Formats: sequence, structure tokens, C-alpha cells
Amino acid sequence: MKKIAILTGAGMSVESGLSTFRGGNGMWDEYPVEQVATIEGYIANPSLVLEFYNKRRRELLTKEPNMGHKLIADLQSEHRVTVITQNVDDLHERAGSRDVIHLHGELMKACSTRAPHDPGQIVALTADAPDIELGDKAADGSQLRPFIVWFGEAVPRIEDAIRALGDIDVFIIVGTSLNVYPAAGLLNYVPSGVPVFLVDPNDVDVRGVRRVTAIKKGASEGLKEIVEKYL
Ligand code: APR
Repeated sequence: MKKIAILTGAGMSVESGLSTFRGGNGMWDEYPVEQVATIEGYIANPSLVLEFYNKRRRELLTKEPNMGHKLIADLQSEHRVTVITQNVDDLHERAGSRDVIHLHGELMKACSTRAPHDPGQIVALTADAPDIELGDKAADGSQLRPFIVWFGEAVPRIEDAIRALGDIDVFIIVGTSLNVYPAAGLLNYVPSGVPVFLVDPNDVDVRGVRRVTAIKKGASEGLKEIVEKYL
């Protein structure tokens, strides 16, 4: 049994039909990130932001976990697996992963505008009622907002993610450009001597932090190679 931590990004969900953020027809090419993914953007135009996430949520409801999500979930039968994801989709959970840390929030949840990280105010959104509209209120009476960590906001679960790295045997990075901190900084917390694998069809700059074994393939093929050759 190995203790494995897996850091995933948007590339993990590409094979499920969800787009990445950067590098050619990424989401931030289509939408101005400051308008739809910052607290200032939300305050300036809440209905635009609510609609942006309603659209993404409805799209997510039409997608399925891919083989990569399932390979990660299957690892749990033999190993202790912690998924640390930057993704806000629920595809890891729907594939069967049980220990998932969402650093940037969850698209299928809504929270209070006044107290976004108060667990008592977080509500699950469903396929029957996927939208958040202006006027929908949290228990504290403030406007319900997407349970998403926007640029400039705190990343409360980063401590859980760092703690999860303390005693691992293997660290696997899948489908992230490592552009966004503090998530990208997790590589610094991987204990020395622990092998690091990075699955991405493109080159990813790890800024010399660690020697990594790069597997230049898509998520599913790359994870399959790791499972067959290294685990
Ligand atoms: N399999 C694996 N990786 C892939 C695939 C694939 N099929 N297709 C693309 N990739 C890689 C890209 O090469 C890129 O390195 O996925 C990575 C996606 O990088 P980004 O688009 O920057 O996404 P991510 O790293 O997850 O962004 C981090 O930025 O905008 C914020 O909150 C948002 O969580 C997001 C964060």
C-alpha cells in the first residue's frame, strides 16, 4: 500500500469535454477573468457572474468522469489516495474518489456572500435546480453566490492540502500549468526523496523546484503508464 497524493488541474477534465483556462481557446480567452472570477467582478455585476457559473454548472451536468478520473478512484482499492484538485467540477467524486480536497471551491455548491466559508451556509445545487439567481438567499439572509474561490480570495483548504503531503510516498501532478498559487506552491511541500510524476501533453515549467518525471501524455494515458510502471 502506498500513500499517494494527486494534484489535478483543468487538463484532468479535458477528456470529459471541459475546457482548460490557458494555452489556446482556454476559458480565459473567452471570458475576461477579472469580470467573472474576482470578488470585485462579482460585486460590480453579480448577475453576470451568477449567469457565468450557471452556464458552467449546466455544462458540467452533461459531462461524465473520464478514464483518468476512474483510474485515480480505482487506486483507492490498494493505496491511500488523496486528490488535491484545483478543479471545481465534481468528476473525481462521481468517479468514486472519496478523499478530495477542492482548493478553488465546488461548482455544484452555493454559499453565503457575507460568510462564504461558513459550512452552515453552504447548500448543494442539483440537476433539478442548478441555477443561482439574484434574490436567492443564504440562511444568513445574504445573496447566495457560487462556492468558488475567486482570484484575490483566501484558499482555506491549502492547509489541509499541505498536511496531506506530510507522509506521502508518491506525488502525481496531472493537467495543470502550475501558474496559480498557492496550489502551484504545493510542490515545495513534497518531502525530499518522494518521487514526483507530472502528466501533461505539453511542457510545464516547475521552476527548478524539484526533479520530476514528466510523462508527456494526456491524463488517462499518462496515469495508465504510472499505474503500470511505477505503482
Ligand atoms: N491531459 C492532461 N493535461 C492536459 C490535457 C489533457 N488531455 N489537455 C491540456 N492539458 C494541460 C495543459 O497543457 C495545461 O498545462 O492542462 C493544463 C491546464 O492548465 P490551465 O488551463 O492553466 O488550468 P489549471 O492549471 O488547472 O489552472 C489553475 O487557474 O484560472 C484558475 O481557478 C482556475 O483552477 C484554475 C487555476
